[in-house]
Amino acid sequence: TRAVTTYRLAEMKARGEKISMLTAYDYTMAGIMDAAGIDVILVGDSAANVIAGYKTTVPMTLNDMIYHGKAVARAVERALVVVDLPFGSYQGNSKEALNSAIRIMKETEADAVKLEGGAEIIDSVQRILCAGIPVMGHLGLTPQSINKYGTYAVRAKEAAEAEKLYSDALLLAETGCFGIVLEKIPAALAGRVAAAVKIPIIGIGAGGQVDGQVLVSYDMLGINNGFSPRFLRRYLNLHEQITAAVEQYREDVKSGDFPNGSEQY
Ligand code: KIV
Ligand code: NA
Repeated sequence: TRAVTTYRLAEMKARGEKISMLTAYDYTMAGIMDAAGIDVILVGDSAANVIAGYKTTVPMTLNDMIYHGKAVARAVERALVVVDLPFGSYQGNSKEALNSAIRIMKETEADAVKLEGGAEIIDSVQRILCAGIPVMGHLGLTPQSINKYGTYAVRAKEAAEAEKLYSDALLLAETGCFGIVLEKIPAALAGRVAAAVKIPIIGIGAGGQVDGQVLVSYDMLGINNGFSPRFLRRYLNLHEQITAAVEQYREDVKSGDFPNGSEQY
């Protein structure tokens, strides 16, 4: 196992040390993030949007996730590697869910899987846990259910939905999940959940009263410049820098400036 384990993450929460998590989809980027000291690397099904060019995460397959999972896991020495189970690979059939999780664990060198949902998928969560596979939950905005909700707006603003999310979080924690991602919900609700459970709560658009933060790497690096939710902090503007580099290269090729005398054999 790698240095960051699910046990280490629980210790970090107990000590009040915040947990840093980012998504990665390929070997090179995952290696950079691991060497930079990120605690958890998520092979997110957001690969659908930023890598594959799908409008939603719904089309991602288990084979797609295994391809990305393998590439990331080959690079990571220290961080905990979590792979998303994609839409259709775990809902409504706990035996199929277990088979999906087993494929991820056998075919990639991941440490854990992540599933979206609460009470609806608890049989699947339980069965995967029974096989000794660590499970991370994901509540609030759950992109695999986009066709049910029809919007990526903030979730759980109304009392009924907030109470359902709170009880789902307690259920996932009791069942044995090692952590839960809360996506795009009011900060106060996320804080209430984090205070109620011993397992780490990792937020994205869920405020600062939680145990750690996750962002989609393509968003925080500014590669993706068409997506600007309030919760996104951009640390680079790679879209601009890559554009400038590509334009310069094109000009250098056209003008004959590249390659120069020392750039050839
Ligand atoms: O797929 C993903 O990138 C995620 C994070 C937003 C938590 O699930
Ligand atoms: Na995801």
